[in-house]
Amino acid sequence: MKRGATSDLEKGTCKRAKNAQNPFIPEPKQKNLLNIATREWEVANSYFKTPQGEWRARRTKMSKKLHKTNHSFLKFDEEIIALANRNIEKILGEGSFGLVKIGQAESGENCAIKIEAGKKREESVEEVKVMKRLKYHLGETSRTFNKEKEFKGEQTKSKRYTALKLCKGEELEALLSGKDHLSYTQKLIIAIKASEALLEAHKLRVIHADIKAKNMVTDVNANEITVELVDFDFSMLLPEHREHIYDGVKGTKGYMAPEIKEDKVFSFYTDIFALGAMFKKDLGLPDFLYEHMLHDEPKKRCSLIETIMNLINELSKQPHLDIATLEFIEMMKLKYESKKVLLTGFSYYMQQTVNTLTEIPKMASDYFKYYFKP
Ligand SMILES: Nc1ncnc2c1ncn2[C@@H]1O[C@H](COP(=O)(O)OP(=O)(O)OP(=O)(O)O)[C@@H](O)[C@H]1O
Ligand SMILES: [Mg+2]
Repeated sequence: MKRGATSDLEKGTCKRAKNAQNPFIPEPKQKNLLNIATREWEVANSYFKTPQGEWRARRTKMSKKLHKTNHSFLKFDEEIIALANRNIEKILGEGSFGLVKIGQAESGENCAIKIEAGKKREESVEEVKVMKRLKYHLGETSRTFNKEKEFKGEQTKSKRYTALKLCKGEELEALLSGKDHLSYTQKLIIAIKASEALLEAHKLRVIHADIKAKNMVTDVNANEITVELVDFDFSMLLPEHREHIYDGVKGTKGYMAPEIKEDKVFSFYTDIFALGAMFKKDLGLPDFLYEHMLHDEPKKRCSLIETIMNLINELSKQPHLDIATLEFIEMMKLKYESKKVLLTGFSYYMQQTVNTLTEIPKMASDYFKYYFKP
């Protein structure tokens, strides 16, 4: 499922300027992926809006069958979004709970629409909070039927449509099992980018809780690769000053850390375990690149920064690397090596001098003051 992509620098500038007025899609990366005729927008606008431009209450979906258009349309709070028609356009993906299609605003900006059984969620629901923190959740709407309908093997009285930031590329699992063979170098870059994506989530205190190749969207253009995390259905926010959180057993068999099954405990370490399992099962990397991530003892698992450095080290040993990849390696070393030195230095300093646990905050502050002294 190859999707078209438009991204040139000039367009990007005017897109941003235009989107300053469109809070629904704050940082669009892709535009006009669906071919929606002007007539379809006219029909949709008159369906959802009164002649005075007011929204018609309680209308959520305009069906293509009833209105003889090529696309159905959805109404979110202040935005009408056209929905891809699976008979003429490819769907983005299908999981066990839902279907994900491309959506398009009248301005041409695209998003992803996840369709599931259920009602619009409150802002206080954990997954919604997580997605908002990651600027991934754009809006949500739902509609209720008069009688139950079958959806994904279940009977439901309502369907929920969640508008999400559209990630560019293909599902990593599909890419790995597809006909285009990925080189070892490309797999190493994918592993680095996936670790970085997870690190970014962890920095915002998000535990993904379902890391696997099926929940990553990857765009590959030779060695220029992007990886984005999707599917935050199981995700949770780890409160400040907490190292773990309890919840029910969830995740995907084969990627779940042992402590989830035994104690229903989640942490950044449980995501690291799942990422290690993904390196092993999905990417087929050699064991020295993931075995330390699969340690039974959560705290003995290799950190994401160390994982990235190990992968960079392995990448730099590959023959015939192109200039862009060599530059990427240098950039990554600059970005992560200093952090690693800093942390290793601090843990050594602690081992040598610490007496009581209560001294640690003061020692940390002394150490970093010393480290950063002019
Ligand atoms: N924002 C997005 N941008 C692009 N593609 C996406 C996006 N979100 C999801 N997808 C694609 O749709 C697929 C299904 O989405 P998702 O994983 O959220 O559904 P699910 O039903 O919760 O899946 P699961 O079976 O893992 O529980 C993903 O694997 C991915 O390929
Ligand atoms: Mg999924």
